Amino acid sequence: MSKKRVAVLISGRGTNLQALLDAEQEAYEIALVVSNVPGAEGLNRARAANVEGIVLDHKSYGQNREAFERDLDALLIQHNIEIVALAGFMRVLTPFFVRAWAGRLINIHPSLLPKFPGTKTHQRALEAGESEHGCTVHLVVEEVDAGEILGQAKMPVEPADTPETLATRVLILEHDLYPRCLADLARALRK
Ligand code: GAR
Repeated sequence: MSKKRVAVLISGRGTNLQALLDAEQEAYEIALVVSNVPGAEGLNRARAANVEGIVLDHKSYGQNREAFERDLDALLIQHNIEIVALAGFMRVLTPFFVRAWAGRLINIHPSLLPKFPGTKTHQRALEAGESEHGCTVHLVVEEVDAGEILGQAKMPVEPADTPETLATRVLILEHDLYPRCLADLARALRK
C-alpha cells in the first residue's frame, strides 16, 4: 500500500513536526514542510530529515489572505500532497483553503476542545480551575478549532501548575497523539 503524502505547515520551532517525522511509518510520509515565517526553527528539522522545506511568507501578500492561500494550494498540488497537517501554524485559514482540503486538513490544538479554542489555552485552563487539561487533534473547518475531533490526550492539572508547566506536559502528550491521529487518518483515506 502506498504511503499518503503529507505536507506539514509550521510557523515556529516545529517540535510537533519533529514528532511526525520521527514516527513516520507505513501509513504516511512527510513529503513537504511549508513555513509562513522565514527562518522558522522547524525548517532546520525538515532539512535534517531530508524533507523539502519551503518558505511562503504571508507578509509579502499584505492583507490578501486568499492570494497567500492560492499560492499555498498550488504548491501543495505541485507536490502531490494528499493530507495537510498544521503543526503550530499560526494563521487562520479562509473558507477557500478549508473547503479545498476538507477532510484532509488536520490541526493539533493545546486544549481539550471544545474547551479553550484560540490562544493562551494553558493560562485559561488554570484560570477556569480545570482539574484536567490536554490536547486535541481535529479536522479543520471554517470555524476556528471547531472541526470533528480525531483524538485527545488528557492529564491532571496539579495545584502547583503554571501556564509554563502545563505547556511542557501538554507538549509531551501532543508528540504522542499527533502521529497516531495522522496515521489513522492516512489509513482511513486509503480505503
Ligand atoms: C503546539 O503546542 C501546538 O499545539 C500549538 O502551538 C504549539 C506549536 O509547537 N498550536 C496552536 O496553538 C494552534 N492554534 P511546535 O512548533 O513546537 O510544534
